[in-house]
Amino acid sequence: MNHLLLVGAWPELASRLVGLPGRVTLLQLDGMPGGSDLTPYARWAADLIHAPWDQPAKVVKLAAELHARDPLDVVAGYGEFTLSAVTAIAQHCGIRSVPGPADQRPGKAAQRAMLAAGGCMPVRCLVCDGPDDVRRFAAGRPVILKPDLGNGSLGVFAVTDACRIDEGWRWVRAAGLGAVLAEEMLAGPEFSVETRSVEGRHEVLMVTEKFTSGPPHFVEVGHVMPARTAAGPSLEDEAVRALIALGHADGPAHVELILTEAGPAVVEVNRRLGGDRIWELLQLSTGIDVLRLVLLDALGKPPVVDRSVDAAAAIRFVHGDAAMFADGPPVQPTSVAAVPGLVRFRWEPTTYHRRLGHVLTHAADPSRAVHAAEQACASFPDRPPAGTVT
Ligand SMILES: Nc1ncnc2c1ncn2[C@@H]1O[C@H](COP(=O)(O)OP(=O)(O)OP(=O)(O)O)[C@@H](O)[C@H]1O
Ligand SMILES: [Mg+2]
Repeated sequence: MNHLLLVGAWPELASRLVGLPGRVTLLQLDGMPGGSDLTPYARWAADLIHAPWDQPAKVVKLAAELHARDPLDVVAGYGEFTLSAVTAIAQHCGIRSVPGPADQRPGKAAQRAMLAAGGCMPVRCLVCDGPDDVRRFAAGRPVILKPDLGNGSLGVFAVTDACRIDEGWRWVRAAGLGAVLAEEMLAGPEFSVETRSVEGRHEVLMVTEKFTSGPPHFVEVGHVMPARTAAGPSLEDEAVRALIALGHADGPAHVELILTEAGPAVVEVNRRLGGDRIWELLQLSTGIDVLRLVLLDALGKPPVVDRSVDAAAAIRFVHGDAAMFADGPPVQPTSVAAVPGLVRFRWEPTTYHRRLGHVLTHAADPSRAVHAAEQACASFPDRPPAGTVT
């Protein structure tokens, strides 16, 4: 029976380990999402080890010791915060990985070069040494500045007026996530394509429609699936082209695209599951349990996808303002209207873009799911509108 080392789980993912046809050791990364109470994880996994996420050498040493006494067949991780550990472990132990192959994770600039070489729609970009580089690159046109190693929309700044280039530069530098990348600003609605790859065979699971706070920071404020667009096939094709261009062969991916007038353009490829509970929206709208699916894929037992549901699901995040977080995370519990289709309201204040929580809805079609989520958000007392991130 295959021995899988799963790096970094959150409760819903770890609970899918129960009943898997394989042996899974879970390596939890202390201080990362998933919670510090390891008790439930110990029940769900065959074995449990943990290490501080900010000490990569220790993480690799622990995995290598485990591999020496109980050989591993594969190492996998499905969250952004796990990817560098998965890569390091796979390379050190010489084992298969998910995502695979375990190349160095490229930054956004390197990814852009690979995408263009692989035939994706080219998007102009430049790694900049200072605001003057940005001025030259922009030449009066709108640009997006972002950190080369960014995630979670941290440090993203859209410059639509050249007089704000210095401000944008400071914003990106403050995020401290690698070099500053300038990109031409793509215009159009945003989508993501959720995929699953097994030994180089790519399957599209869903095209998701995405809502952001808009310029300048484009923080994600919600998602709905299935996407309400006739451009699904071209979005899917561009996403798969992107996976091939990056050499991605195994594991789930979350490919972000903007549908421009010239066609779909990739924003970035994430070689992992989509965040923001996209896996839960997928289950509600299609019946596909993607958490279990990707674990089975990693164990070498890929199932045929079973779409037993034909419905829609939406998530909206509710954001607070600076005043609400002035004395630490707001603790006041609140409730939302019991609108039809509301699956969950969760109060979960975090300093990450000052999110207060989320509402999750389920409906027969995406417009109804979005409407229900908006109604639920609007019933929050004294909150900024759902799409506002200050
Ligand atoms: N070239 C571009 N043109 C237009 N909008 C862009 C461009 N690049 C990024 N954006 C906007 O900024 C958002 C964040 O960019 P990107 O996905 O590259 O950063 P990130 O930090 O990885 O974000 P996240 O983890 O939230 O997906 C995008 O979802 C999109 O809304
Ligand atoms: Mg992104």
